[in-house]
Amino acid sequence: MSFSSKPGERFGTVIDKSPYTVEDPLVKIQYVSKGQNVVFGRALKDEDYSNLLYVGKILETTKGRSYLGADAWLDTTFPHVIYITGTRGSGKSFDLGVLVEGISKLTTPSSIQNDVKPITSIIIDTQSQFWTLGYAPRQAIPANKAQLDELKRWNLAPNSLADTKVYAPPGTTTFLGTEKVLQIRPKDVKAEEWCALLGQEVYSPQGHIITTTLEALGDTDYEITDMLDYIANDANWPTVADSSRNAISYKLDDYRRTNLFSANGLRVKDFLEEGTCNILTLRELRNEDKSLITAVIARSLFDILGRHHNKKKTASFFQKPFESDGTPDRVWLVIDEAHVVAPSDQISPARGALVEYVKRGRDAGLSLVLATQQPSALDDRILSQVNVTFSHRLSFQSDINAAVNRIPTKSIGAMKFSGTNLTDFGDMVRVLDAGQCFLGDQASSRTVLVQIRPRVTAHGGYSPF
Ligand SMILES: Nc1ncnc2c1ncn2[C@@H]1O[C@H](COP(=O)(O)OP(=O)(O)OP(=O)(O)O)[C@@H](O)[C@H]1O
Ligand SMILES: [Mg+2]
Repeated sequence: MSFSSKPGERFGTVIDKSPYTVEDPLVKIQYVSKGQNVVFGRALKDEDYSNLLYVGKILETTKGRSYLGADAWLDTTFPHVIYITGTRGSGKSFDLGVLVEGISKLTTPSSIQNDVKPITSIIIDTQSQFWTLGYAPRQAIPANKAQLDELKRWNLAPNSLADTKVYAPPGTTTFLGTEKVLQIRPKDVKAEEWCALLGQEVYSPQGHIITTTLEALGDTDYEITDMLDYIANDANWPTVADSSRNAISYKLDDYRRTNLFSANGLRVKDFLEEGTCNILTLRELRNEDKSLITAVIARSLFDILGRHHNKKKTASFFQKPFESDGTPDRVWLVIDEAHVVAPSDQISPARGALVEYVKRGRDAGLSLVLATQQPSALDDRILSQVNVTFSHRLSFQSDINAAVNRIPTKSIGAMKFSGTNLTDFGDMVRVLDAGQCFLGDQASSRTVLVQIRPRVTAHGGYSPF
């Protein structure tokens, strides 16, 4: 599909001047002059502009050729690893909502999608704020009023996701009353993940007990009580100290009481309906439990989609028909507050799974979106494959350095902000307002300042103050 609209017609002329003037020219950028559009996240330049989601508008005046006010799109044809950084309240969760709106099935067709084939997503909702994606903003809600005014200015209509499923762990606050119960199957947790959860090395006495127990239970549909029974049976442990067995039993028993585990718990396959947005409201869980759930999901996703794509490739190689079992070709895993799920300074269950996910995900059709307010606290190896960055306002130099290190193109050398010359990129990042960010990708010669569009669905993260 090609762009046909005239500039300004599609989303209104929201931005015609800017306090930001960037001195560095934009030597390379995917610009489509028809309708004034800029495409991020795609290497190819051809006339096919399908699978683009609308991100917002270019907010910088640029020395030389300027693209101020042009519409910014993100390509969703190929898998991405997207990294969103910014301080509290800078617009990270808002961006996650913008991206999920762009890839999902919407209740009514919207200009925020340029011929998008809906993509299945799973949101690790660490603040329990994304259930509102299923609802349009309403005039009666004071927090939504400003959003509705903004939408009008941008020539956009309120909308909602057509197919959301919200999950909540047992015993945690629910928002809708229709949430599905989120429990995980003990058999889906690997020995090293149990060890990370229980704070033990795999090659420790307690690690040995876990590994042996899982081996003995094999592929049966076991409960934590079955693990406890096996550990309690003296005959199974002729050479292992009681103290190690007791220590691990106390911790496992604690997990049994949380009800987070069940042999009948969810299979990740259950999330994989074409085009569905699965929202996991995890706010009240301990951080290590959020991490464990993320680990199980990430690992199962690349197992399931990896197998699916291998079968597809083999069928195509031998020119045989491919019989799909309904597994979608593409999935986006979206993680808010990613430093909580995979911190750099401690062992966490999600770390290994996410490192593997980003390394092997692309071939399996898997995208990852990570948002964090503490870029310096997120495990670095997970960021090795980042190809798109949204850099919002940051304050601390260590966080700015960590965020800038991952921008997949050049940063900016000189920018004028309201008449003041800034020559340090950190200072440029410090002056941004909520909803403004530097968008970086490999197709542009440097990072570009963008105003993120308003959300078309209700945003759940408005400050109550
Ligand atoms: N693109 C935008 N357009 C309009 N308002 C925005 C935009 N992005 C963010 N905001 C405003 O900023 C507020 C904070 O945004 P958001 O909840 O995304 O912050 P955050 O970076 O996720 O913060 P935290 O780290 O506290 O979770 C929003 O409630 C909204 O009022
Ligand atoms: Mg947030």
